[in-house]
Amino acid sequence: MMKNNHRINENGNLEINGADTTRLAEKYGTPLYLYDVDDICDRAQAFRQAFEEEGVGYQVAYASKAFSCVAIFELMDELGLSLDVVSGGELYTAVKAEFPPERIHFHGNNKTPDEIEMAVNAGIGCFVVDNFHELTWLMAITDSLERDMNVLLRITPGVEAHTHEYISTGQEDSKFGFDITSGQAEAAITQVMGHGRLNLLGVHCHIGSQIFDTTGFVSAVHEVFSHLDQWRASTGFVPEVVNLGGGFGIRYNDEDTPLPLGDYVKAMVSAVKHESSERNFSVPEIWIEPGRALVGEAGTTLYTVGARKSIPGIRDYISVDGGMTDNLRPALYQAKYEALVANKAGLEKSETVSVAGKCCESGDMLIWDLQVPELNQGDILAVTSTGAYGYSMASNYNRIARPPVVFIRGGEDACVVERETYENMTSLDRSMKQTKEPVQQVR
Ligand code: LLP
Repeated sequence: MMKNNHRINENGNLEINGADTTRLAEKYGTPLYLYDVDDICDRAQAFRQAFEEEGVGYQVAYASKAFSCVAIFELMDELGLSLDVVSGGELYTAVKAEFPPERIHFHGNNKTPDEIEMAVNAGIGCFVVDNFHELTWLMAITDSLERDMNVLLRITPGVEAHTHEYISTGQEDSKFGFDITSGQAEAAITQVMGHGRLNLLGVHCHIGSQIFDTTGFVSAVHEVFSHLDQWRASTGFVPEVVNLGGGFGIRYNDEDTPLPLGDYVKAMVSAVKHESSERNFSVPEIWIEPGRALVGEAGTTLYTVGARKSIPGIRDYISVDGGMTDNLRPALYQAKYEALVANKAGLEKSETVSVAGKCCESGDMLIWDLQVPELNQGDILAVTSTGAYGYSMASNYNRIARPPVVFIRGGEDACVVERETYENMTSLDRSMKQTKEPVQQVR
């Protein structure tokens, strides 16, 4: 199935949002990450429109771990989104992109004192506090810097999504968030409320990733509100914000069946409205944190086909000029991707090949058993839906340089991250020869 904004043009080449991908491969080289910016805009708009139609206060925070660089942060700002960052590096990138700090939310289960100080000084919108260790540092740092800070408490509501299923046991066994049943969440609420510099805005939960239905979100809302009810009675805390995290699924291959993005929002909002009225809360703002659903399907990676190994009666391996260094997901999660041959997009598929990466590792396989037209050295392979957790999880294994990132907007292409060079990769290395003291000759 062709993606949104993908088509086969008159030359038989794959065109993305008006740009011929074979021309881009020639212009920028391969491997190459492409992003269809208009697709990202449409997706952001779908989330926002659904909230607007429901008439509730909201923030859509882009989970920047999915793909972070200055340009994507600039785009998210332009689209009116907020930003979820999880490290000093993501925060630094956001500041560099001049992202409005008041719309930055800081996540993470082990924020260091330096990171906390950096975020407090930057004047970010809120901390999503994960544990008592962080809370202690945050109280000390806001006191010493004499700065106020909004806080959401991350809690584990007892619903965990394993893609298609939801389990409601075992949730306590997680490195993230405050445990509810042992009373830790309530103790954290009391601590935050008792600290003059911290303002407890609300609670946060995230049930998982690549979710294809609304059941888990609705159960999470139910669980969260039943605890909010108790906490209101025991502590007087009434939330202004409930953040329901991210995890909205996307289509990597034909087996994936995501819902229209607005459907997730509508189900969440109606669950929050229902629980609020049942329990006599005023409807809080609802925040979400999509990562993959904003950028995943917008991304396509181009590779050049190189070596071929045919094992008679077994399989044909074709190797490309990238692999697990630019897309770790097949090796790490056995993720399944689809691909087409960009320069032969209109030709009939006549053979089956398995696409190997170039790393010295047998597990570096991008796609098993892919149907393609007759494939030759020099053909351009386009792997689709690579926009999330591709570049952001890229590595220099085997000292392979990371590919550049090109945005396509209204048919125009622009490089937003340069290709890494060998010089870049060795720029932090220090030679033993330069630093070693001259060896004393012993007579
Ligand atoms: N919010 C929180 C608190 C999260 O932990 C995550 C993802 C998200 C939002 C965004 O989830 P998304 O909408 O992108 O599914 N590297 C893995 C994904 C790890 C996700 C971790 N947290 C992958 O490649 O699938």
